[in-house]
Amino acid sequence: MRCDRTAAWAALQNHFEKVGHAFDLRQAFGADPGRFAGFSQEAPHLFADLSKNLVDARTEALLMDLARECGLEAQRDAMLAGAPINNTEQRAVKHWLLRTPPGAGADADLAQVHATLDAMLGYAEQVRGDAAITDVVNIGIGGSDLGPQMAVVALGAHAASGRRFHFVSNVDGHELDAVLRQVQPDRTLFLVASKTFTTLETMTNARSAKAWFEARGGRDIGRHFVALTTNVGAAREFGITTTFGFWDWVGGRYSMWSAIGLPLAIAIGADRFRELLAGAHAMDRHFATAPLERNLPVRLGLLDVWYRNFHRFTSRSIAPYHSALRRLPAYLQQLEMESNGKRVDRDGRPLGFGTSPVLWGEPGTNGQHAYFQMLHQGTDVVPVEFIAVREPAHALPGHHEQLLANALAQAQALMLGKADPGGHEDFPGNRPSTFFVLERLDPAALGALVALYEHRVFVSGALWGINSYDQWGVELGKVLAKDLAPRLASGDTAGLDPSTAGLLQRLSTGR
Ligand code: F6P
Repeated sequence: MRCDRTAAWAALQNHFEKVGHAFDLRQAFGADPGRFAGFSQEAPHLFADLSKNLVDARTEALLMDLARECGLEAQRDAMLAGAPINNTEQRAVKHWLLRTPPGAGADADLAQVHATLDAMLGYAEQVRGDAAITDVVNIGIGGSDLGPQMAVVALGAHAASGRRFHFVSNVDGHELDAVLRQVQPDRTLFLVASKTFTTLETMTNARSAKAWFEARGGRDIGRHFVALTTNVGAAREFGITTTFGFWDWVGGRYSMWSAIGLPLAIAIGADRFRELLAGAHAMDRHFATAPLERNLPVRLGLLDVWYRNFHRFTSRSIAPYHSALRRLPAYLQQLEMESNGKRVDRDGRPLGFGTSPVLWGEPGTNGQHAYFQMLHQGTDVVPVEFIAVREPAHALPGHHEQLLANALAQAQALMLGKADPGGHEDFPGNRPSTFFVLERLDPAALGALVALYEHRVFVSGALWGINSYDQWGVELGKVLAKDLAPRLASGDTAGLDPSTAGLLQRLSTGR
């Protein structure tokens, strides 16, 4: 069912044109003293305040109608039953199974999930006990980099000290070179992380790392190189004997719970990694069982549709008020934009409405001194997502109060604005935001937060009728780069468009 052809969509359009477009947060709070309680909710490991969003009870009710008319619950249940909902690749979508406890559920793959998890965590503990290994270098890109990197940074306070973690993703040799200058072959563990084990960047970096290792007298590839992949055969061919596998039903951007999480498991240990999985599983259960009206991923996904398709907002800003969450915006960019940045429906028919917004952001308070000017007084409305953590992981007096006060103040200022008619100090206000509160930034809370975003992306994708689990849009550039790479050496511009030809000549000859 195409969402834009439903009765609920027409009702939402009508509601938007009549009252929704002129909704005012200040008036809404004035008219409803219970608005904060009514539009906020507890979910596993976090609290979410949605009250500063441009919705009233009627809007939410109509959005729920849309969800029901589009068969959201049936679509969710199909994913959770292991149906091949990734229809262009004929694959199931089962990243949620990676955090399902043993014995819970009937999925036939659960036993091998736990066998692999146990082996991976056993290995992580072995590395943690090996004092000779001082540096872990993860070589991977996209989903094989962003998730583990984001989580290793986020959970740094829970990591054992004395071991350094490096993440090399870019084919730009400056990145690998800078890491290799800091490490010694006999003290370094290289993790080659790639679902396909074919990705150009990762293979180029892995080959260079191996050559560097051997050139510096490193002999025991078996001890110093490990592969995390679904393509165990290719890893063996590369010369890596220690491999931890996963399955084609885990999308790259949904894979931090699989063997791809090994760097995180080495950093925080097996028990804490299991806490991360348990936190995500708690959010999975919430998504699977909570009534739609109190189902946080559902409410957020519907809000995304409301903003993108009725208000026509084109971007959303992520503002984590915790410096350890500094890689979260980049992680969420891949999660949401690679999943829902699609212009055709599941059957390849062009859509007549907008899909994924642009996601962007920086930790607070830094963003305040960079682009918040635009959020407050620019011509576009950008919904902002604040993520605050109640308990700090440091004991420096005064800092955390200042940090939290700034998060609150920004959300307040966006909503309230300030009148200076005709003047430069006029803040229009009525700018929407969502505010998440985590008790502390621990593995369980991080797991729940990431799973919340995964399911929210599912919800908006399901309503739009798109396949959120393929990524054909990244292929064309890869094919063209393959053709251009040898031309940079040869200078051959035959058959190229004039701009590419001119640039190639400039880059290859300097003229
Ligand atoms: O090119 C995009 C992409 O396929 C992502 O979807 C994926 O996370 C990334 O490349 C890395 O792929 P792999 O893990 O197979 O190396």
